[in-house]
Amino acid sequence: MKLSHIAIATPEISQAVMKLEKINLKLKKQKEVPSEKVMTAFIPIEASSHLAIELLEPLSSESPISKFLENKPKGGLHHLCFEVDNIEKWFQILKEEKIEVLAPGVRISAHGKALFIHPKEMSGVLIELEQIQ
Ligand code: CO
Repeated sequence: MKLSHIAIATPEISQAVMKLEKINLKLKKQKEVPSEKVMTAFIPIEASSHLAIELLEPLSSESPISKFLENKPKGGLHHLCFEVDNIEKWFQILKEEKIEVLAPGVRISAHGKALFIHPKEMSGVLIELEQIQ
């Protein structure tokens, strides 16, 4: 199966687009869909060679995934991850742009080093940036 798009609901497309542009995700087109009574905006993304669905099961009640499942017991979409070349550089850029990164900042991830951008910054969606090592 080829992933086609990821849809994010937002109260205001222009605000959401502004934030996504801060992490190099640029608007390509905006289009009204009268049949669905929505405005849509498309921000192209490239597929990493590591593109995959990641399933996450908590191994402890202290896991952030346990907290997530308290609100959504059946599970749900947890985060989007974008691959970056230099995680420390991105940590600096986000700091300068005053975009909130979850503590402790850069941490060890499944495939290297990663940071997480607070969902409030990106239309309620948790965004991970990961440098594969
Ligand atoms: Co991840």
